[in-house]
Amino acid sequence: MLDNKKAIVTGGCGFIGSHMVDRLISEGYDVTVLDNLSSGRLQNLEQHKNNKNLKIIEIDISDLEGIKKHFNGIDVVYHLAALADIVPSIVNPLNYYKSNVTGTTAVVEASRLANVKKIIYAASSSCYGIPDVFPTPESAEIRPPISLRFN
Ligand SMILES: NC(=O)c1ccc[n+]([C@@H]2O[C@H](COP(=O)([O-])OP(=O)(O)OC[C@H]3O[C@@H](n4cnc5c(N)ncnc54)[C@H](O)[C@@H]3O)[C@@H](O)[C@H]2O)c1
Repeated sequence: MLDNKKAIVTGGCGFIGSHMVDRLISEGYDVTVLDNLSSGRLQNLEQHKNNKNLKIIEIDISDLEGIKKHFNGIDVVYHLAALADIVPSIVNPLNYYKSNVTGTTAVVEASRLANVKKIIYAASSSCYGIPDVFPTPESAEIRPPISLRFN
């Protein structure tokens, strides 16, 4: 019998991640979710709770030493863990940096160390600022808002 394909979904307890898990499980993947449950909920994956093809690890993705063992033998990484609300990032930038920058770097590094062949990453259209064209193509100019007002 052939082994199942193996995927990691970071942020798998969140909105997009949990739907990604549904899809991968329905396609026969073994799925490992890495999520610190900061905004995600275990209830989002309740429907798979007795499924032996799903493993949920509660961990912060910025913890490279902690996450890296989970990447061995993985075929594909879907990187969907992030702090996504924009306004709170202005008052709590270090938290956002840890999850979104250090966390993404750790996921990429853990993938590199384990020789994972594919990482799929969902970013935010906020990088285009207020775009000139809708729907906005990926080739649009990167134009995040640069003026912040601190009161
Ligand atoms: N929802 C949208 O409409 C939308 C649109 C475009 C892009 N995106 C992007 O897709 C990604 C996922 O968005 P979402 O709407 O599913 O967000 P979400 O908040 O529902 O899910 C994010 C998940 O990541 C987890 N998480 C956050 N920081 C973590 C950390 N340091 N370690 C481990 N887990 C962590 C949270 O607990 C949560 O389960 C984000 O990058 C977001 O910017 C979302």
